[in-house]
Amino acid sequence: MKTAHSIYFADAGHMSEVSDGSIDLVVTSPPYPMIEMWDDLFRKMAPDINKSLSTQDGSGAFEAMHRQLDPVWRECFRVLRPGGLACINIGDATRTIDGHFALYTNHARILTAARDIGFTSLPCIIWRKQTNAPNRFMGSGMLPAGAYVTLEHEYILILRKNGKRNFLSDEEKRQRRESAIFWEERNHWFSDVWFDIKGAGQALPDAQERQRSAAFPFELPYRLINMFSVRSDHVLDPFMGTGTTMAAAMAAGRNSMGYDTDPRLISAVQKSAHSAMLPTNQPAARRLARHQAFVEQRTAEGKPLKYTNELYGFPVVTRQEICLQLDIPAHLVQTGDTRFEVSHEMARIPFKYSLFDN
Ligand SMILES: C[S@@+](CC[C@H](N)C(=O)[O-])C[C@H]1O[C@@H](n2cnc3c(N)ncnc32)[C@H](O)[C@@H]1O
Repeated sequence: MKTAHSIYFADAGHMSEVSDGSIDLVVTSPPYPMIEMWDDLFRKMAPDINKSLSTQDGSGAFEAMHRQLDPVWRECFRVLRPGGLACINIGDATRTIDGHFALYTNHARILTAARDIGFTSLPCIIWRKQTNAPNRFMGSGMLPAGAYVTLEHEYILILRKNGKRNFLSDEEKRQRRESAIFWEERNHWFSDVWFDIKGAGQALPDAQERQRSAAFPFELPYRLINMFSVRSDHVLDPFMGTGTTMAAAMAAGRNSMGYDTDPRLISAVQKSAHSAMLPTNQPAARRLARHQAFVEQRTAEGKPLKYTNELYGFPVVTRQEICLQLDIPAHLVQTGDTRFEVSHEMARIPFKYSLFDN
């Protein structure tokens, strides 16, 4: 199997390279309005943002920044297929402006815009970030009533274009069965609070680029891609940044497209593509190993594993997992400055229940 990955350094408010209805899944994280690291970027986008920030008008700046993101959500709706999903990682912002401390509810503003565009909201995920830093208390410390709750979570909003996606042809049904996730992963991944994913390192490879990447951790798009798309699908990240979504799509055997307005990120994107190929970076191998541990534990507990996966020969809990197949990206070819092609092969690890032990 081969997949193609293209990146465009252009405004995602006009994704002219992407045809209507051609994308199966959007996974993204925009610049967060009212978080100071993005002020300069937003100031350059529209004079009213600069004016609101300069005159200490927090609500005006918040709304004006979101008006810059709205066209991108409209474009996402256009390019998604019916039944396609958009997963948007966004955090709210706390900020004191003109002596007035407030929460700027980015997630709520995006949900309102998405509803007006025509998206259906589905239950979302709270990403409770693991942090090693001690709690940063905000406000009056131990004294009531001027202390503020610490903001340590972000959202993954899940939106759908139209109703449920249909898998009609035999080929579509086969792809879907092969893209099944393990029963034990389903129980964990489809929980509405994710506790187990740490924030990503924020270093960028080139000193001239902005100081922090604002990248999300690889596991976040990788999980979402496996939850909400099937093998060979097309995944789009309109705010690609360092290309984490592209790397996750490569690791999961999906095609991808990414947009970013900052061309200085090219080396970071190339680094992400190459690191997705490293044998030590293969989430599929880790998933197989985790399944092996799960099988051992479940067997020890005397709980049933009624079915056998046809490809690997290991036991699984449900019938839906018998065609499950995991791929790893085996070979990367750069077919242009901003294009990559990846050949995939079946993930194989030394596995107790695997056919390959025979
Ligand atoms: C939060 S970062 C994304 C980080 C990314 N998820 C990663 O893992 O590296 C948001 C990115 O959106 C880009 N951006 C901002 N406005 C944009 C627009 N209108 N079109 C495309 N990219 C944009 C910024 O340059 C920035 O790299």
